[in-house]
Amino acid sequence: MEDSRVATERIAADPDIYSAEDPHYPDDWQSETTSIGSSIYRGLIENGRRYQNLRHEDYLIPSDDQMFEAYEAGHLVALVLESDRQNPLFRAPVHDPKQILDVGTGKGIWAIDVADMFPNATVRGVDLFPPPVSWMPPNCVLEVDDVLQEWTWREPFDLIHMRIMIGSFDPAEWDRVYKQCYDKLQPGGWLEQLEASPCIECDDGTLPADNILQSWGPNIFACGEAAGRECDVIDTMHETIRKAGFVDVHDKTYKWPIGPWARDQRYKEAGTVNFHHWMSGMEGWCMWLLTKFGSPEPWTKDEVLVYVAKLRKELKNPRFHIYQRARRVWARKPFPDEIERSAEIKEESTEKPDVSAEKQ
Ligand SMILES: C[S@@+](CC[C@H](N)C(=O)[O-])C[C@H]1O[C@@H](n2cnc3c(N)ncnc32)[C@H](O)[C@@H]1O
Repeated sequence: MEDSRVATERIAADPDIYSAEDPHYPDDWQSETTSIGSSIYRGLIENGRRYQNLRHEDYLIPSDDQMFEAYEAGHLVALVLESDRQNPLFRAPVHDPKQILDVGTGKGIWAIDVADMFPNATVRGVDLFPPPVSWMPPNCVLEVDDVLQEWTWREPFDLIHMRIMIGSFDPAEWDRVYKQCYDKLQPGGWLEQLEASPCIECDDGTLPADNILQSWGPNIFACGEAAGRECDVIDTMHETIRKAGFVDVHDKTYKWPIGPWARDQRYKEAGTVNFHHWMSGMEGWCMWLLTKFGSPEPWTKDEVLVYVAKLRKELKNPRFHIYQRARRVWARKPFPDEIERSAEIKEESTEKPDVSAEKQ
């Protein structure tokens, strides 16, 4: 079943935002938090970023303090845009879960919040690097593992969650991950995934066609394709999840504003946080991709830094009513009788004699 809640409406712009050009306008929404350096975890240092994980040779996103800052901001954007809901963390109708898994948990923020919300559940977060957190609720466990390896958890899950896994897997690996999700869920258990598009979009023409921000999405897509990690998971996941055998596939799309340009208060808050998400995230999102797969030939670190500096400057322009698309898909593992029934239906339809030739 598809949810037709598609984000098509335009986000109305706040006319007062242009006072940002007034030198006295408080611009604290634009300030960037300074990362606290950490030498606790060693890893591969490349182009000034730390890639410290089980697949540091081929995983594109750094695992360092600057990146964790971006993860925090991304988490908040998702929460702000669901803040009218009793449970802003997920939409799957899971009410008294006992076992929950967060695949690619990053800093573990989602897993920790869900563990707080469901104290009777065990919430596991798994990622390629050791969790950069010192305190966790007692019912939250953060583990280091590669989800492309065979999953060894014994207890079946009521809910498996993934968020912003764009670029993590090639198409065959995605199939493998969804199959493992399917196999490790309870019958009737739910899979939920939230993804955001790398493309910067604008509905009202305020972003000029030749602005450098327009180059960001195509650059990321081209590098992702060259790396064999297509970055279009936001548009493919619904179908891939359905093909993996899930039923009741729901879909909700969002517009995540970038910057506080929207009139609506919730969008304004989300846009402010998303601006920080981009400011802290951009360098890490593109450094590996562009220095390895940049066009026409791999870029140098300095070229990437200059590019990101130019993007950041443009991102600060409050006249640009820009946003990125996001999509949430949640789907259920069928119960055994549903699987039997659908196998019977398939069998019946293949057994039917083909009368089309006779009719002619
Ligand atoms: C962009 S981050 C998103 C983190 C988190 N889900 C969030 O929304 O804040 C993607 C995460 O997936 C993890 N990841 C990628 N491939 C993985 C794999 N094969 N096994 C486990 N984790 C993986 C990365 O290390 C990274 O932390």
